[in-house]
Amino acid sequence: MENLEPLIRHGLFDAKVPRYTSYPPANHFQNGVGHRNQLEWLSAVNEGEDVSVYIHIPFCKRLCWFCACRTQGTQTMRPVEAYVDILLKEIAAVMAHLPEGIAMGRLHLGGGTPTILTPQIMGKLLDAVFDAFTPSADFEFSVEIDPTEASPELLGTLVDYGMNRASIGVQDFDPKVQEAIGRLQSLEQTWDVVRYLRGRGVEAINLDLLYGLPFQTEESFRTTLDHVIAMDPDRLAIYGYAHVPWMSKRQVLIKEETLPDTMARFGLARIAHDVLTGKGFMPIGIDHFAKKTDSLYRADQNGGLRRNFQGYTDDPSATLIGFGASAISRFKGGYEQNAAATSAYQERVLESGLAGHKGYRMTATDDVVAAMIEELMCRFCFPTEQLQEQFPDHSAAIRQTAVSLMSQYPDVFCLTAGGLEMREETYALVRVVASYVDRFTAEGIAHAAAI
Ligand SMILES: C[S@@+](CC[C@H](N)C(=O)[O-])C[C@H]1O[C@@H](n2cnc3c(N)ncnc32)[C@H](O)[C@@H]1O
Ligand code: SF4
Repeated sequence: MENLEPLIRHGLFDAKVPRYTSYPPANHFQNGVGHRNQLEWLSAVNEGEDVSVYIHIPFCKRLCWFCACRTQGTQTMRPVEAYVDILLKEIAAVMAHLPEGIAMGRLHLGGGTPTILTPQIMGKLLDAVFDAFTPSADFEFSVEIDPTEASPELLGTLVDYGMNRASIGVQDFDPKVQEAIGRLQSLEQTWDVVRYLRGRGVEAINLDLLYGLPFQTEESFRTTLDHVIAMDPDRLAIYGYAHVPWMSKRQVLIKEETLPDTMARFGLARIAHDVLTGKGFMPIGIDHFAKKTDSLYRADQNGGLRRNFQGYTDDPSATLIGFGASAISRFKGGYEQNAAATSAYQERVLESGLAGHKGYRMTATDDVVAAMIEELMCRFCFPTEQLQEQFPDHSAAIRQTAVSLMSQYPDVFCLTAGGLEMREETYALVRVVASYVDRFTAEGIAHAAAI
């Protein structure tokens, strides 16, 4: 076993730190400002700019106990159909505020379970999306797929509309683990979806796994890894299970005494790393693995890797437009989040067309901290000179942050020509380091500005 002492000393096993899928994290968004910002930022999107589009489908037939996503259970299509009608109204309202000629570089359907839609309802939604946005030359269309809720007809409809990346939820294949997280999903169901998609020419397949689930052992997790490797995915996301029953009420069904402790979680993450890299997958950021032929790996190699709400992306767009309940949009000026509850979302769209509720307007300081944290989360480095060139007005604060990082974490960073780089054996600490930068720089710059 490697030397864990620096990881322990710097708080890896006790720290409660954000995942930094955005900076600032979504819990810093403020109520009541989303709608006002949304109008201004939509009109400020540049003519001819490529944007990314995210559509949230907050419905599932089953509600898995472990799941922390914004979703609700339904056994009938009636609420889903009504929701899609509202989505169409929201798309029309957003288009009325956007300049002409906006192309769509990425389309992602997430949830919840987008594959709960019937082929007819999906067709209606996608017709509206493609009427509104013209796909760009390198268009990527990805969908989150629950293999237990994905008919061949629906998958066929998605492929007909151009879906070229599938993100398939697995979590774990061990029956005891599946039972303890309220998500039964056979190997065969998963294989059926993988085979169908490959047969229809969808080459880019992601699988999602979780470590830190109840009853997971090193042995059981190795078996799950063997099963997913046999499916030959292009990309894997191996997330740490977030047990947050105070936020996600259904998690109270998971017995805490059955969860692996933090040290065991670390061991499971290590196993995933060792097994997957042993099979030729390249580690990307903190929790993704990709084949060398996958676009995420290419982005990682050429400096184009970015952080987004799905984790990591190669999406270069500065603007992400989110549709649906709780969906978050990212603009150059900041973030806007739609009302989270489906009913509140629907009311807002019916009232004014747009559903913006919470938001965050980025300050000049936030832009600097966001760039620092994205560098850490994506490339495990603090490129002092590059950041100073990018933000010349904050040059002194950037240098001060680098000095402070080196003195706080002398055994984590080493000096490079243009800045600092984390040592590979300390990569697991990156969120702890990012939260230090978050506090140090935000407070440091605010203080400097006040003098
Ligand atoms: C929104 S879910 C949708 C997937 C799809 N409905 C399915 O069930 O396959 C996307 C991913 O979020 C991850 N996720 C959900 N709850 C989580 C939690 N509590 N902690 C960490 N990741 C979680 C899971 O890996 C899941 O595959
Ligand atoms: S994991 Fe997927 S199917 Fe299960 S509750 Fe979450 S979104 Fe729904």
